[in-house]
Amino acid sequence: MKRAETKRKQIDDKLERRRMKRRKDADEFKVVEGVIDPPTLKVLYKLFNRGMIRELHGAISTGKEANVYRGVDPEGNSVAVKIYRISTAETDWMREYIVGDPRFQRVAKRSRFLIPQWAMKEYKNLMRYHKAGIRVPKPLGIERNVLVMEFIGDEQGLPAPLLRNVKLESPVEVFNQLIEIIEQGYKEAGLVHADLSEYNVLWLDGPVIIDVSQAVLQGHTSAGRYLFRDIQNITQYFRKLGVETEDPKVITKYILSSGEK
Ligand SMILES: Nc1ncnc2c1ncn2[C@@H]1O[C@H](COP(=O)(O)OP(=O)(O)O)[C@@H](O)[C@H]1O
Ligand SMILES: [Mg+2]
Repeated sequence: MKRAETKRKQIDDKLERRRMKRRKDADEFKVVEGVIDPPTLKVLYKLFNRGMIRELHGAISTGKEANVYRGVDPEGNSVAVKIYRISTAETDWMREYIVGDPRFQRVAKRSRFLIPQWAMKEYKNLMRYHKAGIRVPKPLGIERNVLVMEFIGDEQGLPAPLLRNVKLESPVEVFNQLIEIIEQGYKEAGLVHADLSEYNVLWLDGPVIIDVSQAVLQGHTSAGRYLFRDIQNITQYFRKLGVETEDPKVITKYILSSGEK
């Protein structure tokens, strides 16, 4: 073979290998094709091309507003991929938590546009909590209705259990930890979770707060009411476990008075 030909063949081989690799990588999305609508699939490919995710595995959770999947990044680390439903989502209730938020000056009316704002709100809230040193999944990326975040679980890809499914050694200690997290969230991150309960706390050598899309800034007109509701939920849960807690009203008052940010 002439030199030029050899060279061309080498390049062809290389391209073919690359094509094969791409095809193989794309196969990793097979599980979800057909389950996920085409626009969302496009978003997933974008995240794939940006090097955020390499594989997507089965659902960890299928909820009303979103499904959460375990993904794998190009280094082989597990990530959590939360995919918000665009078309079938109930969005009316969301408005209460996003209208008036200075970070979202123009709240969309149609769910096609509101859901991406809602997903972005979760990303921004995770970032605030994370920067304030509060244990939440570290946010890694956001694209339209898909949020990529740190996977809370073990090396084998098994997700951490919910607080409600864990038999705690010392409930009173965990109760105090959670009240401290609520206080820190308010004072340091300037946020009220607004949907805190034993259903939105994972357990991995301690509590990790999740599901923060509805969390509101301290300045929100109902921040105090949501704070009380969060504290009430946590208090109720731990009272059932036999912890003698303080009155949630007293705890709320204390947190509200002890720090405006
Ligand atoms: N970062 C994560 N790592 C591991 N599991 C997660 C993560 N985020 C969510 N999950 C799992 O997915 C479930 C649903 O997530 P969540 O954010 O609470 O959404 P929903 O709005 O459906 O309640 C959680 O209960 C938890 O089991
Ligand atoms: Mg939840």
